[in-house]
Amino acid sequence: MTTTPASPASPASPASPSAAAAGTFLLGGELPVSRMGFGAMKLPSRDWDGPACDPEQSLRVLRRAVELGVDHIDTAWFYFFRDVSANGLIRRALHPYRDELVIATKIGPGRDPEGGWLDPADRDALRAAVHRNLRELGVDHLDLVYLRRMPSQSSIAEPFAALVELREEGLIRHLGVSNVTADQLAEAEAQAPVVAVQNKFSVLDRTANQDRLLADCTERGIAFVPFFPLGGTGVPDHPALRRVAERHGATRAQVMVAWLLTVSPSVLAIPGTSSPAHLEENIAAAALRLEAADLAELEKLTATA
Ligand SMILES: NC(=O)c1ccc[n+]([C@@H]2O[C@H](COP(=O)([O-])OP(=O)(O)OC[C@H]3O[C@@H](n4cnc5c(N)ncnc54)[C@H](OP(=O)(O)O)[C@@H]3O)[C@@H](O)[C@H]2O)c1
Repeated sequence: MTTTPASPASPASPASPSAAAAGTFLLGGELPVSRMGFGAMKLPSRDWDGPACDPEQSLRVLRRAVELGVDHIDTAWFYFFRDVSANGLIRRALHPYRDELVIATKIGPGRDPEGGWLDPADRDALRAAVHRNLRELGVDHLDLVYLRRMPSQSSIAEPFAALVELREEGLIRHLGVSNVTADQLAEAEAQAPVVAVQNKFSVLDRTANQDRLLADCTERGIAFVPFFPLGGTGVPDHPALRRVAERHGATRAQVMVAWLLTVSPSVLAIPGTSSPAHLEENIAAAALRLEAADLAELEKLTATA
């Protein structure tokens, strides 16, 4: 089994929210993480071209996340705005890291210092990106590195081979892939074990292909880590989400997170925020237990979304 049972149901706003209420997943069958994690992309700025977030507040969010039991933080070297990077904030807030903290990072896109996007990284650029992640995070190896496929890449065989080399050199513990189809996942798995798939997925953003990929990952013990779990740019306002939220005295964001945690024991939630209040709210969703009637209502929403 890849999961341990979560604690019994409790209110959506407990006095002290705890990521542990979401239960645990074993990455690669050996590295435990709480299923309630944190996404660091929005810590430097609200969007790629700003405005900047308050770095002191972002540091507080990171420290509080870990206090509340988050032990899985998702980042990337290319999450930066001007001279503030997500990796740099993580290091400032949390280094030296607790043994149990798993930091997952990504390589794949190219980005110039001004923030402009470049062609997908070639082998040398991928190697340089891994070394940049190591340097910025202040670690001698990376727990989990995703190859983030760019839209222009139909095959990931060649760039994934660069990651496999880096893993063989001891710089990476586990490999993942992001923004991939089932065929691209298979290309990667032909070369080395893949422990996590990070694709866009939420109750309002779901396709038959993603459902199949999720089912396949679940069956084979691969973590499925949805990006944009709250829609990416602000929590959508939908009557069904509102109704379910009202029934539980919860918020729409909490229902979206709780839904993800319900759809499969292999889903790891990584909602992102630079707001301390939203962080507490999102982590409290680990204890929100949706019922059959809620799921049926949300299922209809998906079918018509
Ligand atoms: N692999 C990929 O290609 C890829 C792409 C995108 C993202 N990611 C990863 O996925 C993580 C999650 O995605 P994301 O952060 O972009 O989007 P998200 O988690 O879907 O949503 C974040 C947005 O929702 C707002 N928000 C968060 N909690 C809220 C709450 N309780 N109530 C109201 N608004 C709330 C945030 O604003 P506030 O700051 O004001 O709370 C922010 O604007 C990222 O941090 C990143 O690690 C990966």
